Amino acid sequence: MVLHITLSDLKKGRDVQSLVQEIQELKKEKNAVIITHIYQRLEVQDIADQVGDSLALSRFAAKTDADIIVFCGVHFMAETAKLLNPKKTVLLPDLQSGCPMADMISIDDLRAFKAEHPGAPVVCYVNSSAAVKAESDVCCTSTNAVQVVKSLDSKEVIFVPDKGLGVWVQEQVPGKKLHIYDGFCPTHYQITPKDVFVMREKYPDAVVVAHPECDPEVWRLADFVGSTSQIYKFVSNHEKQQFIILSEQGLVARMQRDMKHKTIVTTFPLPLCPNMKYHKLESIIEALKNNKNKIEVDERIFNKAASTITRMFEVTEPKGSTNSNYWEGPKTQVKVDL
Ligand code: 13P
Ligand code: SF4
Repeated sequence: MVLHITLSDLKKGRDVQSLVQEIQELKKEKNAVIITHIYQRLEVQDIADQVGDSLALSRFAAKTDADIIVFCGVHFMAETAKLLNPKKTVLLPDLQSGCPMADMISIDDLRAFKAEHPGAPVVCYVNSSAAVKAESDVCCTSTNAVQVVKSLDSKEVIFVPDKGLGVWVQEQVPGKKLHIYDGFCPTHYQITPKDVFVMREKYPDAVVVAHPECDPEVWRLADFVGSTSQIYKFVSNHEKQQFIILSEQGLVARMQRDMKHKTIVTTFPLPLCPNMKYHKLESIIEALKNNKNKIEVDERIFNKAASTITRMFEVTEPKGSTNSNYWEGPKTQVKVDL
């Protein structure tokens, strides 16, 4: 295991190995699993039972039989885990870890948007609150958004809250009219076309790969557009050696570590989601020790929000299908049938 020492570790004067050991002991004592988004700090990825993107982590959370899920991701991800596995205790080690894009749409905003397009079904990106999910018809992630929209028996579809992904889906599904909400990811939107030109000039042979949360003006410059898992798979399977990644720095850092024989770079300033970096080894210990920062969902919206997510699985992974190979990134360390 490669360990990465953060400034906070040094300040506290505890060595990383002893923090890791304490986490392992607490996990065992409490029958807990740690699931970690690939945008997290590498040392937090290294103590996880499962690293993944939002889809892979939801599937893992739905199936785990541990008593406690420590979710090292942002708030909506932990909420999704609770909705999919309600009997489990779900802990978010640092409650500051929210998603600005999810916060761009409130329940009132969604109701007003629906009123402008009466009768159109609502697809909500998983990057949304439980309340917004409860007011939507079906959920999606960036991996399955095209499949979810195509499955709907309606010419018009409301898509919230991400306009980058919404425009991407619209282009893949020209037979439908998407009404796209005006939300966006500040981290992916910080990447500008100029940043891409600068990197292309520096690495003229590189393959440019973008997450659809980028501004459409940016992902249009890419050679490949895909979700986190699709990016990881694309880069690891590609015969070329140089890649410019237009996505969050945590994914880039992980690929740089896993694929040392390739040159994998991103734009400057680094596209970093600060909300994803709050969780630290110490806050994970605190959460585990004291069952701190439990995630709960209001019971008045619980069932409706949960069914919006389970409908996504019904549409994309019908019973008996073997469509379960979405996560092509680092493998789980715990034996779980994803
Ligand atoms: P995925 O994990 O679905 O790729 O989404 C990226 C993201 O921004 C997570 O918040
Ligand atoms: Fe939200 Fe963007 Fe951060 Fe993902 S990367 S958690 S969408 S702000």
